Amino acid sequence: MKPQPPSTGLNLGAERRDYAGPRLLEADAPADPLELFAAWMQRALDEQVMDATAMAVSTCSASGRPSSRMMLLKGHDPQGFVFFTRYSTHKCQDLLGNPRAALLFYWRELVRQVRVEAVLSRLSEAENRAYFASRPRESQLSARAASGLVEIAGPELLEQRYQAEDARWQGREVPLPEDWGGFRARPDRIEFWQGRPGRLHDRLVYDLTADGSWRLHRLAP
Ligand SMILES: Cc1cc2nc3c(=O)[nH]c(=O)nc-3n(C[C@H](O)[C@H](O)[C@H](O)COP(=O)(O)O)c2cc1C
Repeated sequence: MKPQPPSTGLNLGAERRDYAGPRLLEADAPADPLELFAAWMQRALDEQVMDATAMAVSTCSASGRPSSRMMLLKGHDPQGFVFFTRYSTHKCQDLLGNPRAALLFYWRELVRQVRVEAVLSRLSEAENRAYFASRPRESQLSARAASGLVEIAGPELLEQRYQAEDARWQGREVPLPEDWGGFRARPDRIEFWQGRPGRLHDRLVYDLTADGSWRLHRLAP
């Protein structure tokens, strides 16, 4: 009998489409990958790609157990990529023991992915304050309601705490919770992947070298 692909009852093996994006050539690649990232992000925003700033963030515990979750990118500059979270979450426990993480962007409509490998460090209190102050009041209150909690018995506790915080800060600025803030991910490898017809995808990789410049090379699909 011919070996069969694994079956889930759904014919997932037949789910495929052709990825027909434009060429990604070395001639179009700037010396600084953050510049290319900015151009790709701008394109995703211009094309109104849904959740264009969403990325999968993968961390790994000191003992080698990986985990991933979606996050929103809140900024990027020559120093790296910035996101915000609660410092008492799983990802932050991982980062305490192992500061390396991988970020993955996927812009489906453009058939593009960007893979980032980086070393993370916490933002300063001043940076955290500045960004927290710019968030909608509901998000500020939610962050305070969840502050210090990990496992909870049910959703009611959060709702009660949200109401209490709302009443407490009525008419006043909602202060930054103690366990809330951001990270900056300083990349040392960034891959730009452009889906191409017939699975002949373009992959350009930038590796950070010892002298601080980036080495550009191409990988086979
Ligand atoms: C599209 C999307 C965006 C998200 N953005 C964030 C974010 O910016 N910050 C955050 O802490 N959690 C965000 N979350 C929730 C995380 O995926 C995750 O549930 C949370 O950070 C706890 O993860 P951890 O327990 O692995 O640390 C987002 C979820 C989705 C689906």
